[in-house]
Amino acid sequence: MNLQKLETTANAMVVSGKGILAMDESSPTAAKRLRAVGVESTAENRAAYRTLLLGTPGLGEYISGAILYDETIRQRTTDDGSAFPELMRRQGIIIGIKVDGGAKDLAGHPGEKVTEGLDGLRERLAEYADFGAQFCKWRAVITIGQELPTRACIEANAHALARYAMLCQEADMVPIVEPEVLIDGDHSIERCYDVTLETQRAVFEQLYRQGVAFSGMVLKPSMVISGKGAARRAPVEQVAEQTLRCLRNTVPAAVPGIAFLSGGQSDEEATAHLNTMNLMAKNLQLPWRLTFSYARALQQVTLATWKGEAGNVEAARKVLLHRARLNALASSGSYDQAMEKQAA
Ligand code: 13P
Repeated sequence: MNLQKLETTANAMVVSGKGILAMDESSPTAAKRLRAVGVESTAENRAAYRTLLLGTPGLGEYISGAILYDETIRQRTTDDGSAFPELMRRQGIIIGIKVDGGAKDLAGHPGEKVTEGLDGLRERLAEYADFGAQFCKWRAVITIGQELPTRACIEANAHALARYAMLCQEADMVPIVEPEVLIDGDHSIERCYDVTLETQRAVFEQLYRQGVAFSGMVLKPSMVISGKGAARRAPVEQVAEQTLRCLRNTVPAAVPGIAFLSGGQSDEEATAHLNTMNLMAKNLQLPWRLTFSYARALQQVTLATWKGEAGNVEAARKVLLHRARLNALASSGSYDQAMEKQAA
């Protein structure tokens, strides 16, 4: 393990004033997103959409790294036919890759999932490194329900995350460790706090046991937030406060940065939460940087503007750049809601 290389990459991923673009939707998820805007999910259309994203002029000003799906790292752009990794190098965007095999039903635990994909991972990492990938992502999902999550589910996922992270570091690739506590349900923010705290504690214990170097990883957590169907949803300040309280009680100071997922929040909510946390951080002297690694909160408006039409590419790139810029500002507490109205 080359710790210096890992630290350099991890620090560049969470560098001040930038965040990560998650565009690693698996083919079934990409199909769902494309169908929602009336686009057929063919390999060609997926490449066209991802060319739109990564070919956005100036994207590298706000985006430090982007997470690709296996298909994309091997594909060529639909404009000049460059390989996607080549386009990213030109844009100054670090190449990341999703390496998990998806969340599958956890045997014996109805309603719960465990993420698979450890078999053969060492060999797949070597192949992705040859494509230029410098960091990886593995997402675990934890569901809040009546009697859920179970300790068995939390531990199985934490263990898999730690095994994955250690394999990445062995290959000199930075692991993004993503334990997502789902927003689905009608639970309160207090319940989300308890589950997130327990999950993150278990994850860091397993990371420690497997020997993962905290200074060479990035945490990608969900925020501590009310369930989507909760009767009363906690306001922005409470989400920011509870998320920071949870992180301060679980995340070692050696971790260089935390890059949140958006998890089904609206675009504006995701930006406002990140901004408020960074405003609060000014009085807390936090040891890690707080930024974004959003998929939906960067892409849904982009997709809705594009709708598969070549004539809409420029407008879609404009809205993507606008959201990327607002989130980049939020990563230093410099966003203001009034900016939502300004042209990109
Ligand atoms: P969302 O921002 O849409 O939650 O996606 C982030 C991600 O990469 C999920 O794994």
